[in-house]
This record gives sequence, structure tokens and C-alpha cells, in this order.
Amino acid sequence: MTTTNSTEATTLRSRRCGTLRAADVGASVQLGGWVHGKRNLGGLVFLDLRDRDGIVQVSVDPALVGDAVRDTAAAVGKESVVLVEGDVVRRPPAGENRDMATGEIEVKARSVRVVGPAVTPAIPVARAKGEALPSEEQRLRYRYLDLRRPELQHNLILRHRLMQATRRFLSGEGFLEIETPILTKPTPEGARDYVVPSRLHRGEFYALPQSPQLYKQLLMVSGFDRYFQIARCFRDEDLRADRQPEFTQIDIEASFVQAADIIRLTEALFVELWREGGHAITAPFRQMRYAEAMERYGIDRPDLRYGLELFDASDLFGATELGIARSAIAAGGRVRGMRVPNGASLSRKQVDDLEAVAKSAGAGGLLRLKRENGEVTGPPAKFLDAGARERLALADGDLAVFAAGPDRVTNPALDRVRQEAARVMGIIPADALEFLWVTDFPMFERDHETGALGATHHPFTAPHPDDAGLLASDPPRARAQAYDIVLNGMEMGGGSIRIHDPEMQRRVFALIGIDDETAQRRFGFLLEGLRSGAPPHGGIAMGVDRIAMLLAGTPSLRDVIAFPKTTTASALFEGAPSKVPDADLRALHVRIADTNGKE
Ligand code: AMO
Repeated sequence: MTTTNSTEATTLRSRRCGTLRAADVGASVQLGGWVHGKRNLGGLVFLDLRDRDGIVQVSVDPALVGDAVRDTAAAVGKESVVLVEGDVVRRPPAGENRDMATGEIEVKARSVRVVGPAVTPAIPVARAKGEALPSEEQRLRYRYLDLRRPELQHNLILRHRLMQATRRFLSGEGFLEIETPILTKPTPEGARDYVVPSRLHRGEFYALPQSPQLYKQLLMVSGFDRYFQIARCFRDEDLRADRQPEFTQIDIEASFVQAADIIRLTEALFVELWREGGHAITAPFRQMRYAEAMERYGIDRPDLRYGLELFDASDLFGATELGIARSAIAAGGRVRGMRVPNGASLSRKQVDDLEAVAKSAGAGGLLRLKRENGEVTGPPAKFLDAGARERLALADGDLAVFAAGPDRVTNPALDRVRQEAARVMGIIPADALEFLWVTDFPMFERDHETGALGATHHPFTAPHPDDAGLLASDPPRARAQAYDIVLNGMEMGGGSIRIHDPEMQRRVFALIGIDDETAQRRFGFLLEGLRSGAPPHGGIAMGVDRIAMLLAGTPSLRDVIAFPKTTTASALFEGAPSKVPDADLRALHVRIADTNGKE
């Protein structure tokens, strides 16, 4: 991916190495780059010189430059930085390299100067075809070398382009880019806060923002109407391949909107971003209500690249002597599962592995049946009469797996089984892009242990206009005006229409256990703002890292972040977090407790 424009020329170099082509033959160039590789043919020395645009071959001929310069080139270490002056010449046909964008030409050096000699690199930058990468730990420890790899350069250049496309698009739509504080008050997005002790205010702490949620709402109160920010967010939560403790959102808020406005805007932005990433996608995207997603897929971010839909088999199993099914149903649960077309071909071990996935997600086990040569077999088969077997609607060669229990348990288990079954059956199409809006989320989630209600999205989300009455009569049934944008089973963004009526905000706080006094202390500035003339407003935030990761085609967020954290939230290269001198702690009024919490 070329990033060059006319500003690449400086007083030290005229062109980037990777941009030279046959059309440049005859040009005299000054180059600066890193020694990617070197071949010493006795007389001639070839250097592969690399910069962010690619690699060009430089030939160093003692007949042109003299023996001393040739010897310098022959001795230069890999990854050293050199300045080269020379002429672009066409390579002889036998010397052309079709694998290189610059492969038709080379630069005949007139001078070579080593300006940044390199010690032997701790991890290699150039790799032979098929050579494995160093361990991720090594790569993060020596990130400045890892980042030199063309793949990572490509990813970060792509990310830059996505950010610029975002700015162009949103600015063109009348959105203003406004920054909000990093040292702030806690914003409830469901994770723990990173906190920063205050030196000037003894015993008091700032929180790093989990998102700019409250600020962007206040900007609407202030009349900015259409806001966006490429915002850094901080969440102290359990990390996974698609989660980083600090990550970036495209954060959007607009006034005088309804959900349909935000949905349409987001779709247009996604079309732009995917175009920038080389894909033509079309909007509108599909929409599905939360309740339907949970029923058919067991999750609120279903991967629609494959079928394996869930169905309710309670009526088939409930009337049988099968103990686990009967007791689950008696306790108010269900028996649900999926047909896996051609799944009878899976080995016993593979089906055991599916069951292990279900168990690790909390299910008691998996009931399994298959149909081969017209016969339905499997441990629970003997409990099913001929009619029930037919109603399973298995085709010859199919496998069916079921989990019994409350939906709260079987949903996550069947979701995991569905994903794993799709993977082992090899039915996930490589290039499919299945965008989906999930809408009508419930306002609240009930904590199974404590019975307490919490906000599903965040507590500033407005109830569905039809369900405001349910807030008094049956809050868990109330739907929210919230929407998530999902791609191939990954949550790319989420947002909602907000509460702009302070009385409604107070009621919603009360339902999730935030009394008036606490609300005033934690969110007083928001409540005051809402009482001061607040327009109807709503917005969304998209995960930039996830978007870049998918468009770069890599499985890890770390491949699209210049300096990412490990899964234990450490920064290996600069060594963070780290200890702070005692004197600094004293100035911050902080004392380290021992592991028992005693000081
Ligand atoms: P939410 O919490 O859904 O919404 O976050 C929005 C999007 O941010 C991305 N994301 C993450 N990416 C990487 N690492 C993480 N730890 C991480 N956490 C979230 C996801 C997610 O969809 N203030 C609301 C938005 C709103 O209501 O307007 C919010 O932050 O892609």
C-alpha cells in the first residue's frame, strides 16, 4: 500500500525506495532506508533497501563507487540505515523479480553512506518464505523491530487511512471533531476503571474514561448538534484477542435523531471504511431483534455466515423418560439444540470436543443424536418414539446436539457449540461479510446471583417508546432503544437513543439501584445538564481496532495497534506498569497495601 505523495522528498532523499518503477528508469535518486538483505558476489554487492513503501535492490559496483564504498556496503549489518545516491536502471531480463513491486529495476549506487548502523537485530525483520514469526512475547518486547515488518507497516498504514476516511466522511456530514478529557470521573460502561491518584487533592482520584459517553451527551446539551471523536477508551477488564485495556472508538453523537438516523449514518460510514479497505459492501444491513437473535443463535451478536440455527426440542424430549430433559423442563428450562448437516461424519472425539466446549461454557453436557442409513442413533435415541424421531427432521448424515437447562445456561453454551461446529465442519465462507444490526435490547439485565437489575447497554439509554409503562410494572421486560452493529459474529459498535428527560433518567437510575443522592454525586453534572434544555439525542461508538483488524485480515487486535498490551495488560517493550519511587507515592498520598489488604 503506497502512502507516498510529493512530500516524500526531503533534503536527504528524493524518493521512497518502494515507489520506484520501470517508468523511473534514467532518474537519479537519493534514497534512505533499512538494509533488509545483502548479497556479496565478490565484486558486486547487492543491498535490499527497505522503507515503508517497499524494498528496492541497490547494486554497489566497485567500478563505479570504488573499493572503499563497496567494502562499506559489504560490511553493513542488516537493519542498518543507509543513504544511497544512484541511478534507476532497468534490470537485465534474467534479473527481474516478479515478486517485488520494484522488481523490474534496480538502483546503481554512486554513493553509499551508513548513517544508522544497527547491532544484530534481536528478532529478524526479513523472513524467508514460510519462516515462522518469533514468539509474540519477543515481538512485543522488540516492538520497534517487529513494526518494521512489511505486514505491520501495511496494517498501520491501513489504520491511518481508515481514520482519515472517518474524518473526511463525518466532517462532510457536518460532524465536529471535539476532544474530551482523559482525566475524568468514572463513566459506567461495565468494566473497572483505571484510576489516577491526585497530588493536589489528597485521597481523591481521577478515572480514565471507559468512553466519552457523558461528555458527548453534554455536548448535545451545549448545542453542538453533531459530534465525533476518535477517542481513546480505557477499561480494566478480562482481555481477549479482540479486547485491549486501552482501545479506540469512533465515537458519535447527534441531536434531533432517532435510531434510524444513527443506523443510516453508521451504514454510510461503514461503506466508506470498507471501500477504503478494498471491499464494496452495500447498505442497508440486515436487522434482527435481540429476542430473535437469542432464540435462533443463543447470542446477541450472531455470526450469520453459516446456519446451524437453534431450535426448541422441549416438546420432543419433555414427554420422555429422559431424566435430564424432564428435570430441566420441570425447573422452567428447555431443551434446545441444532442440526449439524453432514455432522454424522464427525468422529466420536470431535463430538466429545463439542461437548467439552459446551461444558466449559457452563452446560451440563450435550445430548447427541445422528441419523445414518435411515436410523436415528445416539444415547438419547431409545427415549424417543418413532414420531419424535421423525419430528427431529434429521436428514441422513446429520448430527443433532442439544443442551438442557435454563436459557441463561444453554444460550452461551449453544452459541459456543455452534461456532465450534461451524469451524470443524469447515462451513465458514472465507470472504463473507455478514453485517447485522441487533436492535431492541432489553433495558436491564438481572444478576442471577443477587437478583439486582443492571443496565444492559448503559444507564443513559432510553426505553422503547412502547415500553415506558413497563418500567413501573415489569422492568425486565422493557426494551431499550439500543442497537449494536455486528459483523461475522463480532460486535463492531453499539449505541442508543439517550434519555433526555431528567425525570426518566432518575427513574432508570432508581431501578438499577442508584438512589437520588448517589445519582447526584456521580452524575450530578449530567442531571443538571438535562434540566437545562436538552435536545433529543443519540449516538453510537465503533471499535476502530476491531474494524482495522478485520480489514487487515488478522486475528489479533495487537496486529493493528502500534504499541499494544499483552493479555495481562503489560507493555513489554517499555515495561509498564512499573513501580513508582516511594517519594512519588508519598506526594500522591498513596501507600501500597500488602496482599492481605493491610497497610
Ligand atoms: P460499547 O461499550 O459497546 O459502547 O463500546 C463500543 C465499541 O467499542 C469496542 N470495544 C472494544 N474494543 C477493543 N477492546 C475493548 N476492550 C473494547 N470494548 C469495547 C467494540 C464496541 O462495540 N459509550 C458507548 C457507546 C454509545 O452508547 O454511544 C460505548 O462505549 O467494538
